[in-house]
Amino acid sequence: MRVLGIMGSPRIKGNTDLLLDEALKGAQSQGAEVEKITVDKLKIAPCREYYGCLRDGNCVIRDDMDDIYPKLLNADSIIVASPMFFYGLTSQLKALIDRCQALWARKYILKQDFPSSVRKGAFIGVGATRGKKLFDGAILTVKIFFQSIGIRYVDELLVRGVDKREEIKEHPTALSDAFELGKRLAQK
Ligand SMILES: Cc1cc2nc3c(=O)[nH]c(=O)nc-3n(C[C@H](O)[C@H](O)[C@H](O)COP(=O)(O)O)c2cc1C
Repeated sequence: MRVLGIMGSPRIKGNTDLLLDEALKGAQSQGAEVEKITVDKLKIAPCREYYGCLRDGNCVIRDDMDDIYPKLLNADSIIVASPMFFYGLTSQLKALIDRCQALWARKYILKQDFPSSVRKGAFIGVGATRGKKLFDGAILTVKIFFQSIGIRYVDELLVRGVDKREEIKEHPTALSDAFELGKRLAQK
């Protein structure tokens, strides 16, 4: 079982990063092999709609996405983690997701063989405010992302009211909830 964590915050060791680390520890506790990608450290250009991917399923832009595509296809489970920026995912993470139009093209346009649909995904979101709809936009984007790369959205952890760096450590349950999410994902 390989679990890939995608860390969408530019703040290293911030709230999202700490939550994802706990989730990956939870997965590891069940024997999973884990890997974390910190999106902000990578060079990922936004999609330019060149649409080379419609011809052969490959993006024509050459950057760090070259290494990310196989990781996305080889993982048994994926955890996407992001702070809310203007009620959505960070732009760094959104760029990675948009570049997966190439994988969408392989699956839905070119009908290429794709990893099995039993692959699972979870979302961890964190935001400063307590708005009821705080995570709605991000959840929709993550669900469509997962669908495009052949992953089933099975779990989520949504944490409101957390703002400052490491403030998540003061939250009564979030870090242990993240650990449990990782455990569940590696067990299912
Ligand atoms: C550009 C920007 C936009 C933000 N927009 C929102 C928002 O719409 N709603 C919200 O609740 N928090 C918002 N926040 C606050 C972050 O989501 C919050 O500080 C979060 O804990 C940061 O997590 P991190 O430490 O993982 O980066 C925003 C922060 C930044 C920098």
